[in-house]
Amino acid sequence: MPTTAILGLQWGDEGKGKLVDSLCADMDLCVRFQGGGNAGHTVYPEGKKIVLHHLPTGVLHKGCVNLMAQGMVIDPARLLDEIAEVEARGYPLKGRLQISDRAAVTTPMHLSLDGLREAGADKVGTTKRGIGPTYADRYDRIGVRVADLLDAKALRDALSRAIAVRACQMGDSAPTVDSMLKPLLEQGRKLAPYVADTALILAEGIQEGRRVLFEGAQGAMLDVIQGTYPFVTSSHTLAGGIPAGCGLYLTVDDIIGVTKAYCTRVGEGPFPTELLDKSGEELRQKGGEFGATTGRPRRCGWIDLFALRYICRISGVTRLAITKLDVLSGFGDLKVGVGYEGWNEPGLPADIARFSALKPVYKTLPGWKDNISQVRAAGELPKTARAYLRFVEEFVGVPIGIISVGPEREAAFFTSGAPRG
Ligand code: GDP
Ligand code: IMO
Ligand code: MG
Repeated sequence: MPTTAILGLQWGDEGKGKLVDSLCADMDLCVRFQGGGNAGHTVYPEGKKIVLHHLPTGVLHKGCVNLMAQGMVIDPARLLDEIAEVEARGYPLKGRLQISDRAAVTTPMHLSLDGLREAGADKVGTTKRGIGPTYADRYDRIGVRVADLLDAKALRDALSRAIAVRACQMGDSAPTVDSMLKPLLEQGRKLAPYVADTALILAEGIQEGRRVLFEGAQGAMLDVIQGTYPFVTSSHTLAGGIPAGCGLYLTVDDIIGVTKAYCTRVGEGPFPTELLDKSGEELRQKGGEFGATTGRPRRCGWIDLFALRYICRISGVTRLAITKLDVLSGFGDLKVGVGYEGWNEPGLPADIARFSALKPVYKTLPGWKDNISQVRAAGELPKTARAYLRFVEEFVGVPIGIISVGPEREAAFFTSGAPRG
């Protein structure tokens, strides 16, 4: 069976969760491979809103088994709350959720460290979910792993090791092993039924021909290496992150890259096509652009096709999914970023100062007035909306495969390419 990925192509919040939810009706396995509670994936199963942070969105489909693979970072306290919420909504998880024993654990110390960094002058505008410090500890080889939560001695050793290294950064606010040990062990006891070797489960699933969907969190421009470093998250959000994050060499047949019909960003960092005028505010209000995890207003702007084209090339995107096309209705003329003044390279600058100085070059396209939120086929879209999609597709060089015109499950439809005519 072919494997599929849903990945964000911008700075997150592209509508990945909603699309994963739509596709998971036909999936056997849904796999999160990076990130943690920084994600906020909004879905409306049976019309009622739920926001998932750690859990793969496939939990909302009873026929789907969900893997939280080893590339993830997990805050056990928050994860347990999420499990309780999803189960209370009528989606039992026993036997349908498997958490990697090798995934990294976010402890209260990581939350404090994230807070300390963010209180400083060079803040990134993180979600304060402890993501950066947890990944940093993993790579510094002082991390706590899910397996440690199941064994008091292993956990004590792991916490002691981490505190010894981090204490110099934390001073008086450094936690003690004893303050963290008991609650973490208790959380481990509750999570134990879900803990497994997820790489093996995935390998078996693929071998048996199961239908697998990889659910990306964050977006390509937040990738820890390829994104707008240092204003990025701390994981690999591109398709290349899937094998390492799952602990299994594999190829993904269908890489669906998700982009809004415009663009948003939360937190600090450059955003060349940002709109700081009333059109930006209009996009924010019409699109409901407020963070699903932190509630922060999202910065809004036009779609940046130059960046999208580059990202699609390096992430092997096979199809584009365009979301929130409905939000552009009634905007008058629309702009799309097609390059930057004086920038003649095919890629994006690695250096943040140069990136921050980019001034977009726009192409203006006619908009449409009609409310399109009830449209369910590409051919039914207004002529100018079809032309807008065609321009996006031709510029980026990747066919459009999905169009979304509303937050509900059913408000997305497949298309083989941008509609003609
Ligand atoms: P994710 O992090 O990529 O899963 O996206 P978020 O859930 O953070 O943000 C996307 C927001 O847009 C959510 O509130 C969704 O309910 C909403 N949404 C998704 N697709 C559409 C769409 O096509 N149209 C509209 N109007 N809203 C959408
Ligand atoms: P989903 O999966 C949007 C941003 C933060 C900050 C930077 C680093 O819902 O698309 P972190 O807490 O990861 O250390 O923060 O990354 N960020 C997101 N922005 N959507 C997300 O997730 C994000 N996850 C992190 O705002 O700029
Ligand atoms: Mg989100």
